[in-house]
Amino acid sequence: MRVGVLTGGGDCPGLNAVIRAIVRTGTAEHDFEFIGFKDGWRGPLDGDTMVLDVNAVRGILPRGGTILGSSRTNPASEKATQDGRTGLERIKDNLDSLGVDALVAIGGEDTLGVAGKLFEAGANVVGVPKTIDNDLSATDYTFGFDTAVNIAMDAIDRLHTTAESHHRALIVEVMGRSAGWIALHAGLAGGANVILIPEKPFDIEQVCQYVEHRFQTRYAPIVVVAEGAHPKISGEATGDHTTDDFGHVRLATRNVGQLLADEIERRTGKEARCAVLGHIQRGGTPTAFDRVLATRFGVHAARAVADGAFGSMVALRGTDIVRVPIAEATRTLKLVPPERYAEAEIFFG
Ligand code: F6P
Repeated sequence: MRVGVLTGGGDCPGLNAVIRAIVRTGTAEHDFEFIGFKDGWRGPLDGDTMVLDVNAVRGILPRGGTILGSSRTNPASEKATQDGRTGLERIKDNLDSLGVDALVAIGGEDTLGVAGKLFEAGANVVGVPKTIDNDLSATDYTFGFDTAVNIAMDAIDRLHTTAESHHRALIVEVMGRSAGWIALHAGLAGGANVILIPEKPFDIEQVCQYVEHRFQTRYAPIVVVAEGAHPKISGEATGDHTTDDFGHVRLATRNVGQLLADEIERRTGKEARCAVLGHIQRGGTPTAFDRVLATRFGVHAARAVADGAFGSMVALRGTDIVRVPIAEATRTLKLVPPERYAEAEIFFG
């Protein structure tokens, strides 16, 4: 059996661990042959491939990024239509001509959305969930999240001491455009004084009260804000944005952290600085938790291919790896429930 593998969407620590585990398991247990598709869905769209055998995956377990490359190319968009063939038709033709019997798509909501469509169009597809945002509803955790949280926690630990020395408020902006999981976990672990998430529009006056209260006690305040968080009144931090191929706002242009810092300075008269962690959260070596989860996902994805469980995705439920329909992963985003946020609110101010 010839199996294609691709990684799509924003990269994520642990992708290489999954690729390695798929290839090692498929080769050892089922004598599969593998072919790598480059740069997400662009690879199968253009028929752009690379060698993917046991040798190619040696030494990549601890490496961040993805040896296959990634992109946000959307084959279901108008742009992908060429010579009268839709993007999905082009992919199916390329899989046929390359003799690919099955495809493992490693990605988040968007990549898996395309995987689901391709499966409905008759291709043999297995999905592996990936996102540092941890916002896929079908799995308890995605790999990359733990690494991102640890990077953000380390940054918060460091910012505490410089904030204290200068009697400043430090605003830490982390990733999470729709779901505030990174902000919630990093904020809890790092002892933030306020955590702001997209799920709960914030009241700037209340944020300033927390900040002032913190200044009155011994320490300087740390505010952790998810990039997609927004104030109650306007609903949007700024109107200035561009969108990607899947229509998502590129949030780096919104700068909610800097807006907060400016507003806190203006309202409290205290100095405030903003640190945007950005892609630092997605780079570098995965934590042990993410390496193990990614490896287990890879092992079970290869086995799902061997069992012909196409249209399914591997997922973590408790401590077990299970198979769920790909469609389930993309149906609803897993947002922070109000009761989880309420646990964090106890520590605000
Ligand atoms: O989807 C994962 C994610 O890391 C989001 O948290 C973030 O908004 C986005 O990717 C950033 O994407 P890009 O790589 O296009 O800057």
